[in-house]
Amino acid sequence: MKKATSFSPTNIAFIKFWGKGDPELNLPNNGSLSVSLSNLHTTTTVEFSDKYKEDEIVINDTQDLVESERAIVHLDKIRKMAGINTKAKVVSRNNFPTASGLASSASGFSALSLAGASAAGLNLSEKELSVLARLGSGSASRSIPGGFAEWLKGDSNDTSYAYQLYPPEYWDIKAIAVIINMDKKEVGSTGGHKIADTSPYYQVRQSRMEEKIRNIKEVMEKKDFQRFGEIVEEEAIDLHLIALSSNPSIIYWEPGTISVMKMCRRLRKEGVLVYFTYDAGPQPVLFCQPKDLDRIISELKELTLVKESIVNDPVGGAHLIDEHLF
Ligand code: DP6
Repeated sequence: MKKATSFSPTNIAFIKFWGKGDPELNLPNNGSLSVSLSNLHTTTTVEFSDKYKEDEIVINDTQDLVESERAIVHLDKIRKMAGINTKAKVVSRNNFPTASGLASSASGFSALSLAGASAAGLNLSEKELSVLARLGSGSASRSIPGGFAEWLKGDSNDTSYAYQLYPPEYWDIKAIAVIINMDKKEVGSTGGHKIADTSPYYQVRQSRMEEKIRNIKEVMEKKDFQRFGEIVEEEAIDLHLIALSSNPSIIYWEPGTISVMKMCRRLRKEGVLVYFTYDAGPQPVLFCQPKDLDRIISELKELTLVKESIVNDPVGGAHLIDEHLF
C-alpha cells in the first residue's frame, strides 16, 4: 500500500457550529460558513503496512494518548471503508500549537482524512471526503473544499457536508489570527458542544441561525464588507454568550482577548473597518480589508497582552503533496 501526504489549512467560521444533534455522526444543530486560512495549516503522512503491529501516531513530534486515540478511531473508519485491517503510522505537523483555539482539529482531521483515504487506496469525491472529515471533527468538513465554504447542516451522514461557496480569490479580505495565550484550553470544543443546550439562551440562538446564514450569504454575494463584519462579530459574541451561560460555564476569553475586542471598536470609530471573531479559545481572528492591514498590525503591536499576529489570506482546501514526513 502506498504512503500518502496531505496538506490542509485550518478555517475560521463566520457562522459557527455550536451544539450537535447527533454526536455519533457529528451532525450539527445548524449549518455554518467559514474561510480557510493560508498561514495556519497541517501536514500529515499516513502509511498502512503490515510492518506496523500497532497504530503509531506522532503529532507535532509527540505521542499524546488522547489525541492518538481520537486519530485511531478515525483510522478505523477509513479501514472499514477500505475493507482492510492493516495498522498505520501517522506523522502530523501543525505550523501552530495544537488545542489552542486555533482550530487545529479542523486542519488535523481534514489532513488525516485525505492522506488516510488516499493511503488506503480509496478514491473519494470531495463531498465524500468532507463527510469523512466531519466524522473526525465537524469543522474539518469545511477545510476539505477550502476557500469560502458552507457546511450544510443535513440530516444524515450523506447530507451533512461542506462545499466551496466561493473560491479563495473571490474576495480579497485578510484574516489576522492574534495569539494571546497558547496554553491548552480547559474545555475543548467537543466538550463545549455537549453542554451548549444547557444555556437558557441556546434555543434563542438556534431560532436565529437560518436567518443569519441567509444574511451572511447575501452580504458575501454583494461583498458588503461592513455588513459582513457586523454579522461576524455579532455571531462570535453570540457563541461566547452560550459558552458563558452553559452549565458549567466556560470562559474562553483572556484579558488580552478583550483588549483586542476593544481595539477593534476604537479603530472603527476612526473609520478603520476591522471586526473580530474567535473559536472556542482566547485567540481573536480579525477581518479587515487589505488597505487597513498595516494600521491594524501596528495597533496590535501596541497591545502588551498580544504575543503575535499571523496574517492570512483566503486559501484553497486540503490537497495531496509529494513530500512525505517519514
Ligand atoms: C467554535 O469542529 O472543533 O470552532 O466536531 O467536536 O471536533 P468537534 O468540534 P469542532 O467545533 C468547532 C467549534 C467552533 C465553531 C466552528 O468552527 O464552526
